[in-house]
Parts: sequence; structure tokens; C-alpha cells
Amino acid sequence: MSSLVAVGAQWGDEGKGKVVDSLALSADLVVRFQGGNNAGHTLIVDGEKTVLHLVPSGILQPGTVNLIGPGVVVDPRVFVKELDEIVAKGVLDDPARLRLSGRAHVILDWHVALDKARDEARRERAIGTTGRGIGPAYEDKVARRGIRVADLLDPGILREVLERTAVEKNFELTQVHGWKPIDVEALFDDLVALGKRLEPYVDHTGRILDRALRAGKNVLFEGAQGTFLDIDHGTYPYVTSSNCVAGAVCTGAGVGPTRIDQVLGITKAYTTRVGGGPFPTEDGGEGGRWLAEKGNEFGATTGRPRRCGWLDMVVLREAAIVNGFTSLAINKLDILSGLSEIPVARAWRIDGKLVEDFPMTLQEVERAEPVDEALPGWSEDVTAVRAYEDLPDNARRYIERVESWVDVPVEVISIGPGRDETIYRRELFGR
Ligand code: IMP
Repeated sequence: MSSLVAVGAQWGDEGKGKVVDSLALSADLVVRFQGGNNAGHTLIVDGEKTVLHLVPSGILQPGTVNLIGPGVVVDPRVFVKELDEIVAKGVLDDPARLRLSGRAHVILDWHVALDKARDEARRERAIGTTGRGIGPAYEDKVARRGIRVADLLDPGILREVLERTAVEKNFELTQVHGWKPIDVEALFDDLVALGKRLEPYVDHTGRILDRALRAGKNVLFEGAQGTFLDIDHGTYPYVTSSNCVAGAVCTGAGVGPTRIDQVLGITKAYTTRVGGGPFPTEDGGEGGRWLAEKGNEFGATTGRPRRCGWLDMVVLREAAIVNGFTSLAINKLDILSGLSEIPVARAWRIDGKLVEDFPMTLQEVERAEPVDEALPGWSEDVTAVRAYEDLPDNARRYIERVESWVDVPVEVISIGPGRDETIYRRELFGR
């Protein structure tokens, strides 16, 4: 048996989808455990691009079973849309390959509307949410007034909860934000119809997971967002509304910590962030523009341009601590080809003091200035390299410097968007 958790080590968009898709070749199960369709995974297989927001990345791998656990928030309209797309592509032949927890909470139309209305109202303090209703849906879950996937299959319960909740939601939408109310009757009819579409996929995913682990299967847990968007460990309040760190697997999928074998942290070879909030190594100048253009840094979910900057050891060391990384994957190393020097923050300076550990407060992170070390760059195109030894000397030095600063081995290196454009330094999870 082997179970591996793959999580983002930065602010999301680290390229988890590509790594997970490539590891999924040897996985029996791929499991989503948090977040919702705020995630966006672009997968390129045989030159064909598929963007998934909710469905686990393993779906493109024939034979893999994909679970959406109870910790995920599910927009049923998005689920059905992705379902239609993957069925049309001939990717999903059997509902048994995609199982959705009946306990997962549902994102409803008012969550989406309130997410947008509230973030607009925050003005210059806007979080820059993806506008997918994630925060409001998690709020209702924690406030114990949410609707769960299984409720969509029971029109009696559904009507009762919808009617009870609608008064409050429509009051806030119309009276606080001046938005139009949600038509509850139409929403009810839609949800009953959506429930029928979802029904063949709804399951007790925890049982499937337990059986798979007992049977010695390979289980891959696919994180969404990233460590610094975690509600507890991230740059609060500029975070998402779920726990994104590896520990969230236990609650979000329903598995004990003793059953997790490996934790793979995924980072880009540089750093990006979408939305508001501090980002100490952000490069607002020429370098940042160069990374954005060469790295095609536009969000897979919203199409928004990503903020770009350099790799940050304070960030990666903290991520290694809170997730317990056993190895690191570095993505998009190819993008750095062509730079004579690459700045990397080895520490921060806050109020004149040298800081190596991620501080406690947002205000300290906001005042942090990177203390850079310039590492020598390389000019060679690395996209055709498949063995670590064949990378240019300075590319290997870059990797090894990161390894020693973070004190975690870099075992996967991605040098292009395709599934095969990946270097494995040791067998990881049967790869
Ligand atoms: P929300 O998750 O839509 O509430 O957005 C909260 C913050 O998390 C915003 O800054 C978003 O840009 C960011 N965010 C959410 N999901 C992702 C993701 O998958 N990648 C990168 N940033 C994300």
C-alpha cells in the first residue's frame, strides 16, 4: 500500500494538476479532499488540453477511480458540466470511476452571488476571490445550515432547507448589496433535476477509500489551492475558506493520519499569486513581466493575470513544516532558461531584522522585504531533458540549493507542460 498527498507549497497554481496527472498513472484512486471549483487544473495529454475544476485529475487515466470527498464544496451545475465534457471526450465510460460524497456541501446560486457581492463591497481590501461561491458555502457548512449532496436526492428535505435559508440570503442580497433576489422555486426545480444527474455518482466515499487502503491500493490525495491560501496557515484574510495543507486530507477525505505515507510539496521554480494579499518576492518590474509572459501566467479558473516573482525560501520552509513534506516537486523549471542570474529569497528583512521563519502576523508579512541571493542561470532549453544528470550544471545547482535551504529532497522536476516532460529522481509512488 502506498498513499501520497500532493499539495501546493505556495499560493496555488503550482502545477499540481500536471504532477498529479503524471502520478495518477500509477494510482488506483485519486481523491479530492478540500476546495471546490475555485481550483483549475490544466492537463495536457497527447497535445490535447483539458481543464478540470472539480473532477480529480486522475479521471484522464483509464481505470483510475476518482473520489470527491466530504471536505469538498460542490457546485452541482459545474459538476454536471464537467461530467458532460468528460463523457463527450470519451474519458468517463463508467460512473464507478467517479464517486461523489453525499456528505459534500453544495454551492448554491446565492453563494455565488454573495461571494461576488461581498468581495466587491470590500473594495480596496478585496480578497479577489474566484467568485465561485466557495467562502459562503463553507460558511453555511460551519454554521450548520448547509445543504449536502445527499439532500439533493430528497426533494422533501431540499425544499424545507431551501425555503428556510432563502429568506436570509435574499435579504442580504437585496437589502445589503442591492442585488436581485434568487428565485427559490426555479432553484428548487433546477436542484431536483441536477440531483437526478448526480445520483449515479453519489456514494459513501470514505468506505471506498478504506477498502482501497486495506486492499493495498495506491491512493493519491490531490490538494487544491496552496499552503498560503490555507484558512489557518495562510496569509489570512487573503486566503480561501478551507484548509489546504496535507492534514486536511484526514478530515476532508475521512482517513486517519497513520494511513498517510508520503507528502509531496509542489512548487513552481518561481512564485505566482492571484488575488489580493502580501507577496514579498513579487517582481513588479521587467523580471515579473518576463515570468508572466514566458510562463503564460493566467489563471485556469478566472483567466486573471497572475502576479509573478521569485522563489522564496521563507515560504517553502514554512510549507515544509506545516505539511511535513517528504519530497518536493519543482515545476516550470524550463521557464527560467535564458536568465543570466536568478534571484532567490533566502530570508526576509522585517523592520531591519533578518527573519528566516515565516512570521505570525499578516502585518509582518506585509512589511517583509526579500533578502536575495542571486544564483547563476543557464541558457539551454531544458524541455527535452529526461534524466537529472542531463540538466545544465547551473539548473542542477539551482535545484540542489533549494533542497539544502528547505531541507527536503527535490524528487520531481517538471520541464514542460506535457505528461512526459517530467524528470523523476527516484521512484515515487511506483513511478
Ligand atoms: P476563493 O477560494 O474563491 O474564496 O478565493 C480566495 C483566494 O484564493 C483568492 O485570492 C483566490 O485568487 C485564491 N484562490 C482560490 N483558488 C485558487 C487556486 O486554485 N489557485 C490560485 N489561487 C486560488
